[in-house]
Amino acid sequence: MSRKKLIAANWKMYKTPAEAKAFVDAFLPLVASHTRDEIALFPSPVLLPTVVAACKGSNVAVGCQNIHFAEEGAYTGETSIGQLKAIGGTHTLIGHSERRQYFAETDEIVNKKLHTALKHGIVPVVCIGEVLAEREAGKTAEVLKTQVTEAFAGITAEMAAPIVIAYEPVWAIGTGKTATPEMAVDAHKIIRAEVARLLGSDVAAKMRILYGGSVKPDNATALLGQEDIDGALVGGASLKPDSFTSIVKY
Ligand code: 13P
Repeated sequence: MSRKKLIAANWKMYKTPAEAKAFVDAFLPLVASHTRDEIALFPSPVLLPTVVAACKGSNVAVGCQNIHFAEEGAYTGETSIGQLKAIGGTHTLIGHSERRQYFAETDEIVNKKLHTALKHGIVPVVCIGEVLAEREAGKTAEVLKTQVTEAFAGITAEMAAPIVIAYEPVWAIGTGKTATPEMAVDAHKIIRAEVARLLGSDVAAKMRILYGGSVKPDNATALLGQEDIDGALVGGASLKPDSFTSIVKY
């Protein structure tokens, strides 16, 4: 069973349209012949039209960092899945820890967003991960199982093929503290076992589980070389074409 890895850039709230265009113009030639892995960029919504246009016809997919679960409506400041699709976006992050931490996103909201993404054929990257206090209290497995179970409520094996999970231990995000490959693999095994319990071992064997949290060019090989790590979700080190290319080509 081989899972094609997905190497994804989460630009968070960085870059102007001109900076985003300059990134793509520099980045695409560097990865043009890279077929081993899938590549995706997740810029802010205001950058999406620029980045989608610049990536058109390339091997780089583009997605939103967040979508609303409603199809449309009076939700000031939000982005709908229809808007994402209409401008040519194909992926979305769901439940990033910064959304959970600063915007009160719950597992229930994550679940609703997952249903919306699947209904509209957008590839969902569902983000989960424990905070430091949970790890130190020995609760990592429990937290991950709960997050997976609640995110997947009402999801059937038939619906699940497009789903990608990103394991992002919150204590490793933006801190320079990376999970060791062993810690990441342990967490990925727990997550995959939970997916198997919920949706069967075939679905679990095919589901991609990415690692995120201080992935850098100098630790990418150790992490991405693990069979159980099916890609990376990269924040800070994805902002420069050279550094993100080094991770893509780990
Ligand atoms: P850093 O790579 O900056 O730690 O961010 C990880 C992340 O949150 C990706 O979604």
